[in-house]
Amino acid sequence: MSGSALLRARGVTRWYGRGSALVRAVDEVDLEVPAGQTLAVMGPSGCGKSTLLHLLGGLQRPTDGEIWLAGHRIDTMSERALARLRRQHIGFVFQSFHLMDELTAVENVELAALLAGQSPRRARRRALDLLDRVGLADRARHLPSALSGGQRQRVAIARALSNEPLIVLADEPTGNLDSAATLEVLRLFEDLRTAGQTLVVVTHDARIAAIADRMISMRDGAFADDSRFAGAGNGSAAGTGTIYGGWR
Ligand SMILES: Nc1ncnc2c1ncn2[C@@H]1O[C@H](COP(=O)(O)OP(=O)(O)OP(=O)(O)O)[C@@H](O)[C@H]1O
Ligand SMILES: [Mg+2]
Repeated sequence: MSGSALLRARGVTRWYGRGSALVRAVDEVDLEVPAGQTLAVMGPSGCGKSTLLHLLGGLQRPTDGEIWLAGHRIDTMSERALARLRRQHIGFVFQSFHLMDELTAVENVELAALLAGQSPRRARRRALDLLDRVGLADRARHLPSALSGGQRQRVAIARALSNEPLIVLADEPTGNLDSAATLEVLRLFEDLRTAGQTLVVVTHDARIAAIADRMISMRDGAFADDSRFAGAGNGSAAGTGTIYGGWR
């Protein structure tokens, strides 16, 4: 057992349906993601990528197997503890952004921090900092409807970072974006990698996968290939000690 893995999955399995309609969406997956690693998961439609990501982030529970985040077993956690863990320690980015339409960019970003228990002042300051970091300082008061797709996804990434997550889980973050917007998001992920942010990204986009430290190919719910790229990643896992310290 590797004590240093931030995220660890053992025999993780998720079935849907039963009998002849049974689908093994995720089939006995073992995975260890060290702190600071950028991992890309690729594979054909329906191979189980989203299901795996949802299991790893505690959005769904496995049918079988164990999942540990920062030394805490999450697959058996109460709903309440799991919700708290997601709010405080996990940042999600989805293909369709999932922003609140009636809230401005800065309100969308600070909401996550407020829910995680930060003071309004601190949440606002951090939200503005994050929007600046994703290149949207001048769009803070815009509603999502007044932003381009790439800008919306950058707001969503800023939101995912607002609780200083242990891990960012992104599901097809460029799936709804054109080529220019994809490059914007790509640059942001490169920055996150350099900053030592642990990141798991499910993607069909080879350009996103190319900036990862490691690439896993999935087929029929299982890992078909696991490649680590020499020279990728800084391996420093910046700030890991303090992040662990903040947990609980
Ligand atoms: N709620 C559900 N009920 C039944 N089957 C499901 C459900 N969700 C997913 N599945 C099935 O599980 C398998 C894996 O689905 P999943 O969404 O994880 O695939 P994916 O790799 O993310 O695909 P895509 O690249 O199209 O997003 C598929 O066969 C899918 O039809
Ligand atoms: Mg999917």
